[in-house]
Amino acid sequence: MKSDSFLAEIETRHSTRRKDHRQRSLGNPLTQLSFSDNDYLGLSTHPEVIGAAQRSLEKYGTSARAARLLAGPCPEHNELESALASWKGTERALLFASGYLTPLGVIPALVGPADTILLEREAHACLFDGAKLSGARLRLFSRQDMSELKTVLDSTQKLNPQGKVLIVAESLHSMDGDFAPLEEIIRLKKEAGAWLLLDEAHAGGICGPQGAGRAAQLGLIDSVDLQMGTLGKALGSSGGFIASQNRIIDHLLNEARTFLFGTALSPAVARAALSALTIIRSPDGETLRDTLQKNITQFRSAHASSQLGPIHSILRGSNSSANAASQHLQQQGLTVPAIRTPTVPEGAARLRVSLSARHTTHDIQQLTNALHTLPPRD
Ligand SMILES: Cc1ncc(COP(=O)(O)O)c(C=O)c1O
Repeated sequence: MKSDSFLAEIETRHSTRRKDHRQRSLGNPLTQLSFSDNDYLGLSTHPEVIGAAQRSLEKYGTSARAARLLAGPCPEHNELESALASWKGTERALLFASGYLTPLGVIPALVGPADTILLEREAHACLFDGAKLSGARLRLFSRQDMSELKTVLDSTQKLNPQGKVLIVAESLHSMDGDFAPLEEIIRLKKEAGAWLLLDEAHAGGICGPQGAGRAAQLGLIDSVDLQMGTLGKALGSSGGFIASQNRIIDHLLNEARTFLFGTALSPAVARAALSALTIIRSPDGETLRDTLQKNITQFRSAHASSQLGPIHSILRGSNSSANAASQHLQQQGLTVPAIRTPTVPEGAARLRVSLSARHTTHDIQQLTNALHTLPPRD
């Protein structure tokens, strides 16, 4: 009888998803003009990056073969970590097998049930999951409402004066595309004696000196306790990392379970990321950022978008309206994903347009023309 209840529940949840227009599928292969990925500088197809990965593949094979501490030192990992630390202006960096797995290891290694995490209500799922896994008390604030952050910090200090407080925020939001008020977050965290984990997944590579991210752009890296990044977006590869002080990295490599107990990044993937990082920090990287900026300016002037970065939302309201808009664009040869609940709140379903340096002026114009033909939103 019990085995039947698995399938019965799966079927119920399946039909609820369909009714709410939230059913996901893997969709069409990417043969179309795509505005759906996070390869902001187009480095995943750069010939130097591909060449570096190929040479590494021949030398080290396809796999890291084990977790880092078991497999022993690999130059691809070590060189990439040194370059990431230098890029982020920290003593050291530590790689994880994905951006997603990074906070799942890091947050529980830093806080536990006696502590409090203050997390943006709109934060990425991996930050929520890392926070939940830690067992710390979880309190939420809205990313643009610093008076709410202050209220939550004050009441946390009253309720639990002995516990540690970790603030977790995204510098450039993955869905809304806005920058967090970082100066104010840092002012409040210093006042409260809290620590800050800043997820720069979407800002890394695209802003700041040598593309080092938002904290670097604002001259604030010394005030961020843990800088988190991913290799899967502007770095055109896959994997995640934390950059921080030596003793914190040493602690994480002893206690972050997603680092300790999983197979490390493939060496060739690490080499691809290192090659991409070298480009990002060079004058060629500056040229790619200028091209991306030109595309952003073209898109913003056509759509009056208020966002300054590569991520732009076109609000549609309901899930079904967002789906219809995405399908409409697909019929015109354009991939622009519908973002629906639960990724965004009820009534805030949207198209997410992601711009890249690899797009041409003509590509952006084609998108603009197609967006003007969308059926009205609800
Ligand atoms: C803000 C944010 N953090 C972390 C991640 C996870 O990174 P990765 O895709 O490299 O696993 C994502 C992925 O989209 C993200 O948007």
